[in-house]
Amino acid sequence: MNFHNSLAFAQSLDQVDPLQELRNDFLFPQQNGKPFIYLCGNSLGLQPKAAREVLGQQLTNWENLAVEGWFEGDTPWMFYHKALKGQMGELVGATAAEVCPMNTLTVNLHLLMVSFYKPNVKRFKIIMEAGAFPSDQYAIESQVRFHGYDPETAIMEVAPRPGEYTLRTEDIISQIKEQGEEIALVLFGGVNYFTGQWFDMEAITRTGHEVGAMVGFDLAHAAGNVPVKLHDWGIDFACWCSYKYQNSGPGGISGIFVHEKHFEDTTLKRFSGWWGYQEAQRFKMEKGFLAEAGADGWQVSCTQVMPMALYYASLQSFEKAGFIHPLRAKSETLTAYLFFIIDEVNKALGYDQYQIITPRTTNDRGAQVSIIAAEQGKLVFKKLVANNVLGDWREPNVIRLSPVPLYNSYEDVFRTGELLLSISKEIL
Ligand SMILES: Cc1ncc(COP(=O)(O)O)c(C=O)c1O
Repeated sequence: MNFHNSLAFAQSLDQVDPLQELRNDFLFPQQNGKPFIYLCGNSLGLQPKAAREVLGQQLTNWENLAVEGWFEGDTPWMFYHKALKGQMGELVGATAAEVCPMNTLTVNLHLLMVSFYKPNVKRFKIIMEAGAFPSDQYAIESQVRFHGYDPETAIMEVAPRPGEYTLRTEDIISQIKEQGEEIALVLFGGVNYFTGQWFDMEAITRTGHEVGAMVGFDLAHAAGNVPVKLHDWGIDFACWCSYKYQNSGPGGISGIFVHEKHFEDTTLKRFSGWWGYQEAQRFKMEKGFLAEAGADGWQVSCTQVMPMALYYASLQSFEKAGFIHPLRAKSETLTAYLFFIIDEVNKALGYDQYQIITPRTTNDRGAQVSIIAAEQGKLVFKKLVANNVLGDWREPNVIRLSPVPLYNSYEDVFRTGELLLSISKEIL
């Protein structure tokens, strides 16, 4: 598509956007009586208007039923997670049995590594992306130590080449092949939090399996952002938080995926709890753990009804959108428009003040554009916020802007560019 840097053009794209009405289903934060242009859905998604009612329904059930709410009422809490599983699976390309909402992301990373990182003297390495989100780094280091290995020798990071910001798929593949039979686990992000790079998950999985390793993904920045096919790609396990692109609120519940090929594997170790016990027998309170079938067998504690209610509310907006494919179709163009608009700002300034480090190729990125300012990056960011454009700042020097197809418009993107140019002219 040939883009134009004009309000009329942006508005003309909004007019033909089949998803344009969806933004009315969300609450936008305000400043000085004006809503923000919210470009921070990669960090914390906006509140769906439905959230208050769905949460309120559970507060009412708690009020009216108290403990009886576990088995009584319109949505007995004992089975509440089941209401989410179909839609969660739809969003990540999995069956309902392969996914389960539970805990929070880093906790789930640990629980899944307990099952799928099975090091031995010959095969003990974990291969991951350099610059992964710190929580993943800490979780992986601590798992390696827990098994008695040294992170220095057990963790292999694939890094960008000198002078580059993102990883080349060929380098990921060749490093997996090189480490070969020493790799116990390949554990990557789906989309990197800093650069916004979407990794070739299918190729990584295929290569990991070729060398006999388990393959898992942290989908914090991928789930609800890009189309993934966890089941078809044969990924062993994955987990994600639902508070970014999936709008389930701060500290929202995480989701896990375990491929059905592992359902019958009784050799997999788990850190168990009563909620992973076979549902039909759970309240017999008997000794000796018997896992519930599927991903549900990885549950540990009882259903977190309130965070799940918020996730449930949020999943309804994905259902309304037709799930990930219509959203992705809009996202591809919307984000491409943001690339174009930033290029236009540089053109107007006469030099590359804003360097985009996110890959431009559609298949290598989601809805995030990461920018490094040549000068005064932090001040530029602060001025954007002061003027009602909310992205986020990631140390040491990156401004991340995420146009989210559920609630952002082409006009949002155009106006962000307009503001970026005027701020740049004012301060540089
Ligand atoms: C890629 C990634 N992994 C892990 C985390 C940590 O998530 P949590 O604090 O919910 O465990 C985040 C949070 O932003 C993240 O982006």
